Amino acid sequence: MDEINAIAARHGHIPVIEDAAQSFGATYKGRRSGNLSTFGCTSFFPSKPLGCYGDGGAIFTHDDELAQACREIRVHGQSARYTHTRVGVGGRMDTLQCAVVLAKLERFEWELQRRREIGARYGELLAGSGIELLTVRPDRDCVWAQYTVFVDDRARVQAALQAQGIPTAVHYPKPLHHQPAYAQHCCPECCEHSIAAAARVMSLPMSADLAEADQDRVVAALKAAVAATG
Ligand SMILES: Cc1ncc(COP(=O)(O)O)c(C=O)c1O
Repeated sequence: MDEINAIAARHGHIPVIEDAAQSFGATYKGRRSGNLSTFGCTSFFPSKPLGCYGDGGAIFTHDDELAQACREIRVHGQSARYTHTRVGVGGRMDTLQCAVVLAKLERFEWELQRRREIGARYGELLAGSGIELLTVRPDRDCVWAQYTVFVDDRARVQAALQAQGIPTAVHYPKPLHHQPAYAQHCCPECCEHSIAAAARVMSLPMSADLAEADQDRVVAALKAAVAATG
C-alpha cells in the first residue's frame, strides 16, 4: 500500500481505495488493513474473515466529508429524510446481516488467531513438498481469508481433490485486465505476474473452524494429487 499511496500522491493525491475484502483483520507495518489509504472497503460475504450469512460490507475513511458522502450514496443520495442531495444507490445492509456481523465481531479476534494458526500449520505441513506457497513479508501479517497455493495442471489437481470430497476454489481465474469490462484499459499481455498467478492459484479449504484431522486429509490428498500430475 505504501507504494500505491506514493504513486497516487505523485499524481495529485488521487484518492486510493484499499480492497480489504480478504485482508480484514490483517496488519501492514503495524496498521490494520482498511486503514491504509483514503478509503478501505471490506466484504462480509460468508467466506470472508468476518462473514455474515448473506451479503454485506463496510467502508472506512478518516475523512468526515467523504464519510458523509458514502452515507448519502448508500441510501439513494439522501442527506436528510426525503431530501436527495446526490444520485445514490440502494446499498443498505440488511438488519439481519448486521445482527450476525455484530455477534461474530465478539469472537473475531479469536477467529483471526485461529486463521493464523491454521495458515501456519498448512505452511508447516506443506513445507518441503515442492508445492509453491505464498510468502508473507515480515512487516505484515496475513489472516488467510483463503489459503492459496500454486499448482501446475490445476484442473487435474482440483478434480483429484474433488473426487475425495475436498472442495477447492480459484481466486481468481482471470486477471482484472482480462475481464471484458476492463479489457480496453490495458494491453492483454501486460501484468505478467497477474497472468501467471491466475493460471496457477488454487485455494484450499480454510476457516477458523477447520479441524486438524480435516486439514491433514486435505494436505495428504493435495500432495498425492500433485505427485500424480507431476
Ligand atoms: C478481493 C475482493 N474484493 C471484493 C470482493 C467483493 O465482495 P462483495 O461481493 O461483498 O462486494 C471480493 C469477494 O469475492 C473479493 O474477494
